[in-house]
Amino acid sequence: MSRPFERVETEHLKAEKGDYEHFMLKEIFEQPKIAKAVFQGRVDFTNLALNSAAFQDLRDVEIDRVKFIACGTSYHAGWAGTYAFRELAGMPATAEIASEFLNAPVRIDTKTLYVFVSQSGETADAIEPLKFIKAHGGKTFGIVNVVGSSISRLTDFGLFTRAGTEVGVASTKAFTAQLATVTLLALFYSIKRGEDFRKYRSTLEELSKLPDTMNKALAMNDGLAQVAEVFGKYPHIFFLGRGHMLPIAAEAALKFKEITYIHAHAMPLGELKHGTLALIDENCPSVIFLPDDSLYSQNLSSVAEIRARGGKVLAISSKAIGNADWNLVIPEIKGVSFGFAATIVGQLLAYHAAKSLGREIDRPRNLAKSVTVK
Ligand code: AGP
Repeated sequence: MSRPFERVETEHLKAEKGDYEHFMLKEIFEQPKIAKAVFQGRVDFTNLALNSAAFQDLRDVEIDRVKFIACGTSYHAGWAGTYAFRELAGMPATAEIASEFLNAPVRIDTKTLYVFVSQSGETADAIEPLKFIKAHGGKTFGIVNVVGSSISRLTDFGLFTRAGTEVGVASTKAFTAQLATVTLLALFYSIKRGEDFRKYRSTLEELSKLPDTMNKALAMNDGLAQVAEVFGKYPHIFFLGRGHMLPIAAEAALKFKEITYIHAHAMPLGELKHGTLALIDENCPSVIFLPDDSLYSQNLSSVAEIRARGGKVLAISSKAIGNADWNLVIPEIKGVSFGFAATIVGQLLAYHAAKSLGREIDRPRNLAKSVTVK
């Protein structure tokens, strides 16, 4: 299939640290600029229209479900995409860890869009299922950062994430660019399928304000260094949430693990009482993602449940939680925006905890930026 050219007006982001101490911090602070680049030429916020050539390609392609396939941070973006698809497009959507995809017999369904999410576009664990799906007639879509990479070339359709060069091994700006891109794809299917226009419009309104939203989270940078240092002293930490906060909690835990080397475990709040609650005590704190949404009161009960067992709680929320031990409040941020803002707070928490421990932040031990071997 031949694709039309798409002009990308992203600012050239040089791989230099500038005034920042680490690439990771620089890349965290680039996110508002990248959020703009993701939407440029693709979203007409005034007329509430989506314009990308990728959407034109998809117009006549009949699918009734979506499966995201990816690894690590990119998997978390795909997982977040499943919530966006269910919420906005009313479509069944699942996410699978790429390295597991072929570990059991699998039937390729021609009514499924297989969406591969990857920063590098060269992840061997993702390329193998991609080739398998193509060989069995499946339709594939790439959400990739590196232009010209293997995954971008192998997929039938795709959108680039336009995050620029990411140097820090811990992925930050690539993740929020992926989140924005999966949300756009879900919005396209919302329109294509004639789903609730009010949700479509309110999501676009929130996305139009994304750079400001992100700046509000970035403004918390100085204030959270102290609490991050406290978290750098615990051996085990839980990262918890419900619904669309689960992939955000998982991503925050992954960031924390990879650059602090502290054990961080993400799980659904509702699952705690089915065994894991036994681990909660004053030495094992929890970071809880608490947006002001329909799950708010359930989340508050979970905070009480943890506090009653002597567990300490850091709430990342839209308003202060009375019985939390620490609050990181992102003011006035709700809905889909909260995930983006909370992600940035999670990135900064990990960054400052790792810095207080003197870790090699940009090049954590045992890890490579691009995992090109199985
Ligand atoms: C996260 O900080 C890591 N860099 C890692 O989990 C990464 O997302 C994963 O290896 C997948 O890489 P990709 O996005 O380049 O495919």
